Amino acid sequence: MTESIRLATLHFQVLLEEQLARAAAIEQRSERVDYASLRPLVIGVIGGDGIGPIIVKEARRLLDVLLKNELASGDIEIRDIVGLTLERRKALGQSIPEDILAAVKRCHVLLKGPTETPKGGTMESANVTLRRELDLYANVRPVRVPEEGIDWTFFRENTEGEYVLGSAGIAIPGKLAVDFKVTTDAGTARIARAALEYARANGRTQVAVVTKANIMKKTDGQFSRIVHETAADYPEIEVTDWYVDIMAANLINRDIRSRFQVFVMPNLYGDILTDEAAQIQGGVGTAGSANLGDGYAMFEAIHGSAPRLIADGLAAYCNPASLFRAVEMMLRHIGRTKAALRLAQALDVCLESERRLVVSGDRNGATCAEFSDYVLRTLSNEPG
Ligand code: IPM
Ligand code: MG
Repeated sequence: MTESIRLATLHFQVLLEEQLARAAAIEQRSERVDYASLRPLVIGVIGGDGIGPIIVKEARRLLDVLLKNELASGDIEIRDIVGLTLERRKALGQSIPEDILAAVKRCHVLLKGPTETPKGGTMESANVTLRRELDLYANVRPVRVPEEGIDWTFFRENTEGEYVLGSAGIAIPGKLAVDFKVTTDAGTARIARAALEYARANGRTQVAVVTKANIMKKTDGQFSRIVHETAADYPEIEVTDWYVDIMAANLINRDIRSRFQVFVMPNLYGDILTDEAAQIQGGVGTAGSANLGDGYAMFEAIHGSAPRLIADGLAAYCNPASLFRAVEMMLRHIGRTKAALRLAQALDVCLESERRLVVSGDRNGATCAEFSDYVLRTLSNEPG
């Protein structure tokens, strides 16, 4: 037993050293990339696992239409990155094979289908690896229900918290297991600033900080304190504290939920609450997700690879809406505002006001391709 404790202590020492180095790197603030100056601006596209390649194929059709002129002139390039399959990741024992990571880094932004995460074992989720390797610290997830006045934007810390050492816990077999949660000052300050800046830029007056600081006293206590400290630069914005359990209840409380505007929270709470929020909007198939860093950004669906749909032979009936919303966020992020607005309007028509075709995930609903045709038809009816 003493030997296990000695090994575990050494392991912990290495982890602490690594995490301090990561915190130091965050403190060296990097410059924001200026997308307008890139020629060509390269959008990498990864299909992913399960339903991923199906929805990504449809998203590409949208991009071909929305960016037609810039693709033709060479101002924008769309580049397929192939080979990020579960089989290959398992065979190589790498969550992101080196060649894929290198190819990803040669692009400026990434549009990615869901990737499957093997349960147990030590292989990290491909998503988590990409978020860390590209330092995509802000996971931004908007959720809207216009008829109820709900207009929420979630800022989920995306590179630390419960996730950063999720595959590096300690187990003493047959006895116990320990996982770690890491909150750095610099990592918290930058997600706080991202949420506060967004609130300011969009005329929002409130930011809700969601933690469990009554229990996770060190990490969540510090997260909340740093958000408040950062908010001193934003006197027009009111920062309120909430525990994650009551916030989960508040989101389904119709009497009060529309009062919330912007949320900021550690990684795992953001993972859980954004699925809940997306369900309120109409399902996890409907919300987009942006993973933003200072030098890189990745856009994806909020949901997973849906192995059950594949197993039930229903792959063709999968819903591309979440990825389409992610495409809209990507276009806005790279400064293609007009194209983003065109897509936003078409999606509002197809998903909210008109709803002539609805994807339900079974044979009663439209197929992914039929729904995409519908969006494309709606796009072409809009004044370009
Ligand atoms: C998400 C997903 C991922 C996460 C999985 C696929 C690792 O649930 O983007 O919310 O837990 O972050
Ligand atoms: Mg999730």
